[in-house]
Amino acid sequence: MARQLDEQIAGRFPVGQRLRVLDVGMGQGTQALRLARAGHSVTGLESDASMLAAARESLATEPEGIRERVRLIEGDGRETGVHFLPGSFDVVLCHGVLMYVEEPDPMLAGLARMLAPGGLLSLLVRNADALAMRPGLAGDFGGALAAFDTATYTNRLGLSVRADRLDTLRGTLAGIAAPLHAWYGVRVFTDNVDNDVELPADEMERVLALEDRAGRTDPYRGVAALLHLCGVRG
Ligand SMILES: C[S@@+](CC[C@H](N)C(=O)[O-])C[C@H]1O[C@@H](n2cnc3c(N)ncnc32)[C@H](O)[C@@H]1O
Repeated sequence: MARQLDEQIAGRFPVGQRLRVLDVGMGQGTQALRLARAGHSVTGLESDASMLAAARESLATEPEGIRERVRLIEGDGRETGVHFLPGSFDVVLCHGVLMYVEEPDPMLAGLARMLAPGGLLSLLVRNADALAMRPGLAGDFGGALAAFDTATYTNRLGLSVRADRLDTLRGTLAGIAAPLHAWYGVRVFTDNVDNDVELPADEMERVLALEDRAGRTDPYRGVAALLHLCGVRG
């Protein structure tokens, strides 16, 4: 996913331009820090105080030149208008957050408003069109059958959360002047692999190459666990 994001950024903005990035629901700040290290100015917005504290802790270990390019703010991604002026970012990330938002459309409209013309909106969502894959491939055939008739699922934390459909988001993005420009599948083959599994370096390289290839290739990307959608502000 990071590779796809970098590719989209490289394809839209001149090399070396310091971009203004907003990471909504940044969690522990993995992407925020990565983009700050790459030279961009990053604002992280996070509603959970403990996540924000973890992100602050990681940021504290960075060299000063990177620390001064990062702003971390406690707040709700549904209220970006309270914190920022419209058009004040080149890139807005909202990765792994929409699942927790009951009504995604107003939040997405708010995020699109934060973008300057030509800016990139990067969304990572759970794929509602392929919810049967996880239980089905794990041998839970009853769970897989039930997953056809719903757009909610139980996540690894045991919470019942929302998934999104590609076509619905395509329509939403068109309606908020940030039409879909590219999309990828994420976790085509590895959704049932534990996040903490450690693989030898060469095997990890193979897995990443496989996921990258499948995430760009039909029909595989359509049944990925997650979808990475890139909209561009008109
Ligand atoms: C699954 S984590 C993803 C973290 C990070 N974006 C990533 O991709 O690794 C979801 C994060 O979104 C945050 N979050 C959920 N709803 C939010 C909201 N309405 N506003 C801001 N943050 C939110 C959660 O607190 C959590 O830190």
